[in-house]
Amino acid sequence: MQREMGKIRLLPENIANKIAAGEVVERPASVVKELVENALDAESSDIAVEARIGGKDLIRVIDNGIGMSREDAMLALERHATSKIQSMQDLETITTMGFRGEALPSIASISHLELITRTRDVMEGTKIKIEGGTIKDVEQAGCPVGTRISVANLFFNVPARRKFLKTTSTELNHIIKYITWAGLVHPQVAFKLVHNGKIVIEARRCDTIIDRIHTLYGKDFAGNILKSDWDFETIKLRLFIGKPEFTKANREYQLFFLNRRPIRSKLLGAALGKAFQPVIPKGRYPVAILFIEMDPSEVDVNVHPAKTEVRFRDERGVFNQVSHGLLMAMRQQEYIPEIPAPTAETPSPTVSNHPRRAKVESSVMDYLSRQERKPEFVPRPGGSPRIAAPPVRQRPTESIALPLMDFENIQIKTRLFNTYIVAETANEVLFIDQHIAEERVIYKKLRKQMQEQGVPSQGLLLPITVELSPAQAAVIDSTVDILANMGFSLEPFGGKTIIVRAVPAVMGRGDVKQAIVEIMDQIAASPDKHDRLKLQDEVLITTACHSSVKAGETLSDAETANLLKELFNTHPPFVCPHGRPIIIRMNRAELEEKFQRK
Ligand SMILES: Nc1ncnc2c1ncn2[C@@H]1O[C@H](COP(=O)(O)OP(=O)(O)OP(=O)(O)O)[C@@H](O)[C@H]1O
Ligand SMILES: [Mg+2]
Repeated sequence: MQREMGKIRLLPENIANKIAAGEVVERPASVVKELVENALDAESSDIAVEARIGGKDLIRVIDNGIGMSREDAMLALERHATSKIQSMQDLETITTMGFRGEALPSIASISHLELITRTRDVMEGTKIKIEGGTIKDVEQAGCPVGTRISVANLFFNVPARRKFLKTTSTELNHIIKYITWAGLVHPQVAFKLVHNGKIVIEARRCDTIIDRIHTLYGKDFAGNILKSDWDFETIKLRLFIGKPEFTKANREYQLFFLNRRPIRSKLLGAALGKAFQPVIPKGRYPVAILFIEMDPSEVDVNVHPAKTEVRFRDERGVFNQVSHGLLMAMRQQEYIPEIPAPTAETPSPTVSNHPRRAKVESSVMDYLSRQERKPEFVPRPGGSPRIAAPPVRQRPTESIALPLMDFENIQIKTRLFNTYIVAETANEVLFIDQHIAEERVIYKKLRKQMQEQGVPSQGLLLPITVELSPAQAAVIDSTVDILANMGFSLEPFGGKTIIVRAVPAVMGRGDVKQAIVEIMDQIAASPDKHDRLKLQDEVLITTACHSSVKAGETLSDAETANLLKELFNTHPPFVCPHGRPIIIRMNRAELEEKFQRK
């Protein structure tokens, strides 16, 4: 058909809705979000979500809210029909989740939607069927008070969008995340999520957020969270922060809510990072659920169509107040000693060893980065047969001058701070981080076992039970499967718990529970990981990390000797699986230079 150039026409309503849908609806979880927000705005105390095939085939949200009259229900499907605002002023003081009157017509334009609703004051409800934005059927229907909206075949008429939907587990994961967030903000509302007929989340009404945290994340998690409230100049803060020893390997458990809405914010992430940096080990992330309340006119929530991105008018003010709240909360819990962070000259016995550790590590990193520029270790020609030759890197000139490492004649001298082994060869002093060294040794051992006859397993005398988060529970089958190859024996035990019956034999002294939780987080965070080998490797690294002695734990002389022997059997032993340095070398010439002997 020929298009007449230059002629302006109004887009038919249908097409306008479809375009708006492109902004509001990205994936099944966006539909869940819009429908659940509507249910919350309708004062529901019970919200059930049902999904099939990650929501790609069906999403159904059932609430017990105020419902709609027939006229309102018809109107609700029209663009810009909303009961929530009437004027520009209302927009400034909005307290409902929705306000654009865009969600329902957008969703209806790209799916097969059925709406059944009834208000308290009528006996019969209304049922409306609408396909791709066209109303197909309106009739009376018997139904309870409240609203039930079913959205089938999402994007059936936008094939490009449908094609880009991810796998069932990824889409389900997004839905779980959203329901978890909504559940945290509204403890007084019961939430249920059922996927393919199986209950994924079931949270009864409760009084407090911490009760909700308990239901959603389990007893262990809730037991490691400390709550505090702060009232500042322009913001109110409700903080739920994890103890510093309860850290995670990623930011999955850092959630921010602004005026009860989940948001993403680099600013808040940075405030969190800054507050926790001195008390938690490098590469670990604090657990933190932050609720911020502030005057809505101080925030622009409308910068993003799904309302997740916000802009604060006074960024610096928000940052300072949040940082202050976090520090006060941590001080109140005695996370931070009153005395300033220790310097090398004034170590204080009352200071927890975390800050000191962080400090040492950073100087280690400095040292290493200086070392970077220097040539690397080169194998001794005709050296010990025990040592596999690391790849020799071609480095110009200098490498010839570097003294070679003399593995044969290593002597253990002492241990510093119960953390570093000091050893000596004819020409060098070696500082070895015992934890990282052992991690490396165990990791190597596990990998070798994996490639050969499988990781030997050891039954636990007392099986350990671990509570699962909904996201972890959703991938439990593949978790059991992946871990079975690695010496773990797990069994699902009722909906939200697993029993650990056996672990890799090397885990003898390790923290099994912590390792399992972390491994399940890794699997849940990437349910689609096609690269199974990479995932397996991550699991091995985590296992190794939790199997090894921690800094501060005492090793016997024999254990130390054994550790070093095994360490020098792996190649190249200078960095751990996480990429942290294991050994710092200082040669005699360097010392002599420092003491001005030369
Ligand atoms: N579950 C429900 N119970 C009662 N009324 C509802 C429900 N869902 C929608 N409505 C009514 O339909 C109207 C339109 O809903 P829709 O989600 O499209 O817009 P909105 O919530 O006002 O704004 P937004 O587009 O920002 O979500 C709402 O304003 C509300 O009056
Ligand atoms: Mg809405």
